[in-house]
Amino acid sequence: MTTATSESIRQIVCVLDALHCGGVLVAPDGTIVHANRRFCRMMQRAWGDLVSRRIWDFFPPQQATQLRYDFAQDAYEEIEREAVLPQADGAELPVIVSSRPLDSSSMLPAHRIYTVIDISSQKTAESRFQEQFQDVARLSDTVLEQALALKHYSQTLEEQVAERTSELRQANLDSILMLAVASEARDTDTGAHVLRIREFTQLLGRELGMSEREAEELGFSAILHDVGKIQIPDGILKKPGPLTPEERKLMEQHTIFGERILSKRRFFDASRMIARSHHENWDGSGYPDGLAGETIPLPARIVHLVDVFDALTSKRVYKDAWSLDEALAEIERCCGRMFDPGLVRVFLPLARTNEVRDIMSLRHDPVFV
Ligand SMILES: [Fe+2]
Repeated sequence: MTTATSESIRQIVCVLDALHCGGVLVAPDGTIVHANRRFCRMMQRAWGDLVSRRIWDFFPPQQATQLRYDFAQDAYEEIEREAVLPQADGAELPVIVSSRPLDSSSMLPAHRIYTVIDISSQKTAESRFQEQFQDVARLSDTVLEQALALKHYSQTLEEQVAERTSELRQANLDSILMLAVASEARDTDTGAHVLRIREFTQLLGRELGMSEREAEELGFSAILHDVGKIQIPDGILKKPGPLTPEERKLMEQHTIFGERILSKRRFFDASRMIARSHHENWDGSGYPDGLAGETIPLPARIVHLVDVFDALTSKRVYKDAWSLDEALAEIERCCGRMFDPGLVRVFLPLARTNEVRDIMSLRHDPVFV
């Protein structure tokens, strides 16, 4: 080795020793010429254990072969890559290795200087971050699963509540119908009368622009119109001949009795109104209050009309059923006297539809299931 070469090596060693990272000078055949203290610490080896050894001697066989190959391929290339250094205790230290060959015009052509930066703390932080991210992701999955389960439970609960509400409503409506049938059965042919009143009222309600729900509720309200007859003695209710003035006065009281019998709950507001006022006439000649015109509640005016229409077209012990033409002629004749002219105008064409014909053919008792 010439003096000039020795001087070049000395200068490079000085530079390597001054670095704040690992530094190694390697000869073209892979021999370590010098390793600074930081590199020695990274490898967990003494300077004397490293110098004069081939750099790949410290790596496991497979990596050593690859390193030799890369060393030959990269002889004239600058490199910068992540790598792992095998430490004396068998651990692996993650590092970034940078290297460049010395200029061919230098005193040490084809030698390489490696700088090695320990990135173990960054890798640890990265690994911890990934673990935390995975924890958060797992937590998110759990929260999401719980949220979905909760949503499903809530939907199921809503469906059950809706189903129960529907059952309760249907049971409530059945109770109303049963009460109506029980009260009507005393003076009409069958309980089918209340079904027809319900259907006629519902149909007319829809024709007047009510929603399906409103019309249905009005239909159920209508069927309790004569519930007060429960309090009328059989001797008067079933009397075949004409009633005396006193008997008639008592009979007319079924409107007041009906209003008192019915619940004060909001659902029965229309029923109470109908029970009290379904015998009021448009011209004020009806009972029990002698109301006239639009002071008579609309639901009561509707039921008054359909109740008379059904009575005319039904057979009774004292009369045959009137034909549709005869019944409608009578309705028209009483328009403005008994009935609201506006309702009659809507009802007359409606009465000739198939829907009304179908309702008129309802002659069987209601069946409760
Ligand atoms: Fe009545």
